[in-house]
Amino acid sequence: MQIGQRIGTPLSTSATRVMLLGAGELGKEVIIALQRLGVEVIAVDRYPNAPGHQVAHRSHVIDMTDAKALRALVEAEQPHLIVPEIEAIATDALAAIESDGVAEVIPTARATQLTMNREGIRRLAAEELGLPTSPYAFADSLDELKAGIAKVGYPCVVKPVMSSSGKGQSVLRSDADVEPAWQYAMAGGRVNHGRVIVEGFINFEYEITQLTVRAIDPATQQTATYFCDPIGHVQVAGDYVESWQPQPMSPRALELSREIAGKVTAALGGRGLFGVELFVRGDDVWFSEVSPRPHDTGLVTLASQRLSEFELHARAILGLPVDTALRASGASAVIYGGLDETAIAFEGVAQALAVPGADLRLFGKPESFVRRRMGVALATGKDIGEALQRAKQAAGFVKPVSGK
Ligand SMILES: Nc1ncnc2c1ncn2[C@@H]1O[C@H](COP(=O)(O)OP(=O)(O)O)[C@@H](O)[C@H]1O
Ligand SMILES: [Mg+2]
Repeated sequence: MQIGQRIGTPLSTSATRVMLLGAGELGKEVIIALQRLGVEVIAVDRYPNAPGHQVAHRSHVIDMTDAKALRALVEAEQPHLIVPEIEAIATDALAAIESDGVAEVIPTARATQLTMNREGIRRLAAEELGLPTSPYAFADSLDELKAGIAKVGYPCVVKPVMSSSGKGQSVLRSDADVEPAWQYAMAGGRVNHGRVIVEGFINFEYEITQLTVRAIDPATQQTATYFCDPIGHVQVAGDYVESWQPQPMSPRALELSREIAGKVTAALGGRGLFGVELFVRGDDVWFSEVSPRPHDTGLVTLASQRLSEFELHARAILGLPVDTALRASGASAVIYGGLDETAIAFEGVAQALAVPGADLRLFGKPESFVRRRMGVALATGKDIGEALQRAKQAAGFVKPVSGK
């Protein structure tokens, strides 16, 4: 496919086909953005009726960690581009698909391999690129963990190297916390049970997501790097609950953030949007981690930017020009399921949408859990304070109830 030159007609021989691996709420928005540009979209997830399945041309349910099943599906669907939305994918299969020239992997198969494992991305950032990070060590046993803690000191954070959304993570303050943290990490890791990273705790003032886009600059036809305004957010138990944009920063901290984000995304390569997570205190900035895809805290951009992070991702992967301009100060507030049940309903939607500047996304997930993200309230305002107050007010009106 001549990226950036033409887009075909969906469901015809000229179609431009994109396959999403993972079709949650973030994938759903990427799919909608692609649909608007006339792309044929195939959505894949591990359960039926996932949010993205509901807006794609075709949907499939497979175990994406099964390399054979993944390869077979790609060969059957023949997408031009493969867009991972989650980390838990057979990335060795993606590497083979890329090197065999079967499809292009976004941003690159190597980026998906490095970022699915905390060790890969940490060693790249700290040891190869020399970026500032928390002090860290890796451990394969309780004894190695104790040795690692002796190096980084208390307080520290233990995380399975293969995990996301805070799963298996704990903060340690003394020797008494070590064994429980090890056990918790062993139970919470995705695969590769056994290895953890221990990081020195960074006493940051605030943390940001620096959305960074690698896209073709139409003036030069070369890949260029574009930055969105910084997004501030609050994390509770490893899950983001509120985000806002633009996060106020000192000029030096902003400059350092962009320098770090530029370097790490250039090292990962390819085209697309990345979410670079950074910790900030005063003028000091530490690299934490990076998603080679839209970031959950970036849901705020649906309200605050001219082009949301999802539209930016869609344009970038297709080789089209991007515009990262802010439209207004904005905020997002997460709506949790609050109950364990399938086919729930939402009350208070009208009250939520009556809040000035507010909007909603209800993801349409078939099954609710108490702590599952089922929707998000968005708002703009004259400043981030007003936007956040409106987003929280709107989210507060939405009440998940039994659908029975
Ligand atoms: N070294 C650290 N120092 C201070 N806070 C941390 C550290 N590591 C993680 N955190 C906190 O925990 C959150 C989740 O950690 P992160 O490494 O981003 O894991 P995940 O991959 O689950 O998002 C971070 O956004 C931050 O709030
Ligand atoms: Mg994170």
